[in-house]
Amino acid sequence: MSRPDKHELSTLSFNTLSVHGGNEIDKTSGAIRTPIVMANSYLLPYDPSTMDWSDTEAPSYTRNSGHNQICLQRKLAAMEGGEDAAVFATGVAALHAVFFTFLKSGDHVIVGDVTYEAVWRLFAELLPQRYKIEATFVDMGDMEAVRAAVRPNTKLIHTETIANPTTKVADVATLVSIARQAGALLSVDSTFTPPPFFRPLALGADLVIHSLTKYINGHGDAMGGVVVGSKELIHHVKADALVDLGGTISPFNAWLITRGSVTLPLRLKQQFATAQVVADNLARDERVAYVTYPGLESHDQHQLAKAQFAGKGYGGVMAFAVEGDPDAQNRFVSNLKVITSAVSLGHDETLIVHVGGSGRGGAERYPLNFQKYGHLRLSIGLEDPQDLIADIKNALDETFDRS
Ligand SMILES: Cc1ncc(COP(=O)(O)O)c(C=O)c1O
Repeated sequence: MSRPDKHELSTLSFNTLSVHGGNEIDKTSGAIRTPIVMANSYLLPYDPSTMDWSDTEAPSYTRNSGHNQICLQRKLAAMEGGEDAAVFATGVAALHAVFFTFLKSGDHVIVGDVTYEAVWRLFAELLPQRYKIEATFVDMGDMEAVRAAVRPNTKLIHTETIANPTTKVADVATLVSIARQAGALLSVDSTFTPPPFFRPLALGADLVIHSLTKYINGHGDAMGGVVVGSKELIHHVKADALVDLGGTISPFNAWLITRGSVTLPLRLKQQFATAQVVADNLARDERVAYVTYPGLESHDQHQLAKAQFAGKGYGGVMAFAVEGDPDAQNRFVSNLKVITSAVSLGHDETLIVHVGGSGRGGAERYPLNFQKYGHLRLSIGLEDPQDLIADIKNALDETFDRS
């Protein structure tokens, strides 16, 4: 019995694809789950001297393409609706792979002014200082500002669909048209909005990036990253950044992520529904200074989010703060019993982190309420919403009784 091959995968519905995609019946043992292949080298053909040592199709050396990486790539390409995918050891390695592959000295990039910390530093410091790549940080909620930032040498526009941590929403369809007019690529970090919830390639984005560490694995036990796009673009990413920079995912992590992603559509549905309930509750509590979540009508881009995500939900991450000084945030977090204080997001368990009022780029990157109170980033897990609401209420009671 054989599993659907690469071409048949795209015909499957998302739930079926999540179960069967990338899984192969093992020809030797008959095992119905793809085994973990920890070998770092594969048997060479009769005359290896004619081989292309940069080839990433057939397994030869695990830095280029090991068996579990190939299975995961096939699955993720189908899930995002792309022709091909390149997986990496972390989300940051995947992001850097895109920047390294498609940018050179003298090029200009437009980046969201709120963006993952490592991306901010790459474009604010490392890439300009070391490689003379220029970057303009722009409010991705203001499409006129993006248009105005385009220069003749703009080669890439990079955004997050929902920005970490302010939950600002990017209008991906408009960014596609701006990028096309500029002759630039559009890369979208869709870590907060995995498929089937949202698929930027369907709107015309060129590349989609995920930290697989988050929702796609979903269990908080493996790190990974992926870039998905056309065969041609992904060929360049693999040839330049995977083969010659490394950053390869381990076979074990690729296997864990393939397994974790089986339940992705079910998890997203529950997590995003619970997030809305928790955000509504926080917004009603007068001890909470503010809540930022695209599913709240008070969110600046609620209408855009509603249209862009087709009413399917608004993600599973929100930012908020309790009334009081910065230490009130610490006291509140220390009073939580179900919700865990830890970085990362998109896990099966609910995580909270007190990030404070500014990131690496300084406080002015954040809205005024973030600057005044700091912020707590809350990533909703799979617990029962009533337990999360009760945990938050009890922690608020404890915090404010004592203060
Ligand atoms: C939006 C976003 N992109 C990328 C990353 C980086 O991913 P990783 O930690 O897997 O390198 C993160 C991590 O939090 C993230 O939130």
